[in-house]
Amino acid sequence: MLILGLESSCDETAAALVTDDRRILSHRLARQDEAHRPFGGVVPEIAARAHVEALGPLIEAALQEAQVTLADVDAIAATAGPGLIGGVMVGLVTGKALAHAANKPLVAVNHLEGHALSPRLSEPDLAFPYLLLLVSGGHCQLLLVEGIGRYRRLATTIDDAAGEAFDKTAKLLGLGFPGGPAVERTAALGNPHAIPLPRPLVGSGEPHFSFAGLKSDVARKVGKFAPEDLAASFQQAVVDCLADRTRIALAKAPEATALVVAGGVAANTAVRAALTTLAADHGLPFIAPPLWLCTDNAAMIAWAGVERFALGLTDPLDLPARPRWPL
Ligand code: KG4
Ligand code: ZN
Repeated sequence: MLILGLESSCDETAAALVTDDRRILSHRLARQDEAHRPFGGVVPEIAARAHVEALGPLIEAALQEAQVTLADVDAIAATAGPGLIGGVMVGLVTGKALAHAANKPLVAVNHLEGHALSPRLSEPDLAFPYLLLLVSGGHCQLLLVEGIGRYRRLATTIDDAAGEAFDKTAKLLGLGFPGGPAVERTAALGNPHAIPLPRPLVGSGEPHFSFAGLKSDVARKVGKFAPEDLAASFQQAVVDCLADRTRIALAKAPEATALVVAGGVAANTAVRAALTTLAADHGLPFIAPPLWLCTDNAAMIAWAGVERFALGLTDPLDLPARPRWPL
């Protein structure tokens, strides 16, 4: 089985071809950092226009690299939400048009399902159920992944996502966009215990997240402390929150066979180290897909397409794009 996957829900435009035996024949991706940098964050209208320009050539390049044509594809999987609606529509409408023109089925994929199933693409032996910490710019959730289409959400953020907190802190410290990698680089030069910062919700019995208060406290301290120490102390606070909340979720889901992380914040070395220790403490394997598969990409959408199509799950061409779509 061969699936073409399309992704355009935030600021990455991507196309990929993936087989049911986990071969990634090609994956192409265009970032938009330069277009959004002057604004210090993703501007939805700019993102949507950039997707329109980038997607067609990316699909052609992906087909060419894989040395296949649309006729060889079994189905077309496109992100149908959640995300910035203009961008989601670009990818979904493109997927529908290709499906109609080539007479192929359409598989509408929930972007979060793409992240949730991505570790099964890189880890053939990963069995259900597993606990997934999904930490990106738009999402901060703990999900028990029980099967295809069976996701039990144990926790979410009551305000900002962890990646959003990194991005806002970077902006406060004048470190540029995207913020996460910049904060991590600056943090490496500072003392993570130099400045006391809050750890919102740590110790609470439900594994939810909150980062707005932490960010506000950083805002109050900017200019009073060295940026390196602020970045390092902020990062440590986020790591402590993620580890504590994940520990509570593990206690609520003793059936989990592995601890898995996905989303852009999974690129952070300190986050990975804390989760590695946590998993080891629980006698569980810790699984982090390769970085490019952790951040937004089309291979994970194609893979979710493989998993859904194998179960006979396809969607009608009048399916609407959804800005909000909880798993
Ligand atoms: O999954 P992703 O590429 O896009 C979505 O948000 O869906 O995640 C991007 C987020 C951004 O907020 C970025 O600042 C954060 O992941 N990020 C990081 C690091 N690299 C990316 N956060 C902390 N440390 C990093 N090294
Ligand atoms: Zn994402």
